[in-house]
Amino acid sequence: MKTYQKILSLVAVTATTGLLFSATVYGDDDGEHKSFFNWWQQSKLDVAPVNNLAYREECGSSHVAYQPGLLPQASWREMMAGLEDHFGDNAELSAGVNQEILDYLLANAADDSNYKRSEGIMGSLRPGEVPLRITDTVYFKRKHDEIPASVVVDNKELGSFSRCAACHTRADTGSYEEDEVKIPGVGRWED
Ligand code: HEC
Repeated sequence: MKTYQKILSLVAVTATTGLLFSATVYGDDDGEHKSFFNWWQQSKLDVAPVNNLAYREECGSSHVAYQPGLLPQASWREMMAGLEDHFGDNAELSAGVNQEILDYLLANAADDSNYKRSEGIMGSLRPGEVPLRITDTVYFKRKHDEIPASVVVDNKELGSFSRCAACHTRADTGSYEEDEVKIPGVGRWED
């Protein structure tokens, strides 16, 4: 064989092997490869975006519809059981809607999620801790400890850390990367 023929056959073999390999990895819908791929892909994302209409409409009209994966099940259970005094407001829902939203929150809570922020929040909880605010978790505090209170509390456009989407420009999509932050009246966040 001439040298160029050797190179050609080598390219052909490599391409075929590559195709066969990717077909086994991606073509197997229910197999382990696919679920491992999904798991690996998900674990790189921040937190699952909200995809329940009732939750988005009922809870997202008063404040950000926080992604369920930002708190554990115990927190959502306690919160949904006490809506008549929801941080000082009466936010009661009909029993049916309350149950639908609770089911959604429990199914998507941080406990068994493999999204990285959910894992971070779960990992930061003390045994038995049931936070009712995301901003109370050690994980949240650790991530925001370099931001002076004056930038938030004394900021007329902001007032509180609970307004995630005011600073995290893609919070709505479940993305909280620090390079997407833009603080109202302050601008981009540089470490
Ligand atoms: C005042 C604007 C502001 C608000 C409001 C805010 N954040 Fe942040 N957040 C930041 C900044 C700035 C950083 C990056 C901090 C750093 O790198 O020191 C950050 C970092 C984070 C990170 C880590 C990002 C990374 O790349 O490591 C997460 C997760 C996060 N915020 C979630 C939230 C959630 C959830 C809320 C609402 C409950 C919220 N934030 C509210 C400004 C804000």
